[in-house]
Amino acid sequence: MIGQLTREAILAALDTAFVGRSLEVYDAIDSTNARAVAWARTGAPDGSLVITDEQTAGRGRLGRRWHAPSGSALLFSLVLRPALMPMQAQRATMLCSSAAVEAISAVTGLTAQVKWPNDLVIERKKVGGVLTELGLAGCELDYVVVGMGLNVNLDPAQIPEALAPPTSLRAELGAPVERLPLLSVLLQAVEARYTALGRGWSPHEEWREHLATLGQPVQVGTPEEVIVGVAEDVDADGALLVRTPKGELRTVLVGDVTLRGHRV
Ligand code: BTN
Repeated sequence: MIGQLTREAILAALDTAFVGRSLEVYDAIDSTNARAVAWARTGAPDGSLVITDEQTAGRGRLGRRWHAPSGSALLFSLVLRPALMPMQAQRATMLCSSAAVEAISAVTGLTAQVKWPNDLVIERKKVGGVLTELGLAGCELDYVVVGMGLNVNLDPAQIPEALAPPTSLRAELGAPVERLPLLSVLLQAVEARYTALGRGWSPHEEWREHLATLGQPVQVGTPEEVIVGVAEDVDADGALLVRTPKGELRTVLVGDVTLRGHRV
């Protein structure tokens, strides 16, 4: 394991005004999302960070598990309290995904993309994922927990293969990557976008630019059905717009995309 993520090291490396300043650091925990949700419910300040070296019950999308050997990944969750309606909460996910793409490029020179809705990929291999969980106060959005897992130094052979073959920054770069500078740049990139969101900026256009999925023939597995067509666009709230062979434009809110003719 290189570069320990201790509370002191993180606070010394942070270049933010508020994101990550309220901080919980664990050697191991069940899930940073679970802890961040519990903390959010008891008043965690906007921008609070929960980070760990290892998760014993890491949560993935659609009830899946998220695996990463201890110390090999960035595993963290942010508590955000944006002034958004619940249906706009995906905007918080979008800005964090774009921040990750920027940080990966700045720190490693690698070009990552977003595979709709929340996967981070490098040349179609999955290098990370984002899981967002919402809390409501009545009809209002109380908090958004954005959890991110980034495969930094792990050996892709060590984790189970899912829909997309896994990779890591180390595997793509051919050299180990320090987690602390990556975390620092990433949180700074989150804060810049989150502050802009508060001033009315929409993260949709930037996120759209990062999407690997658009213009591709896709098969989208949703909880109800499988939709086949061409991924034409995304809307401002993050839904995927799929043009079916009959010319119908379907709006998909939740699902897994497979590019037809590819595994991802
Ligand atoms: C996906 O299914 O692709 C999303 C995976 C999100 C995993 C991260 S790891 C840190 C945070 N805590 C969790 O329990 N899950 C997210």
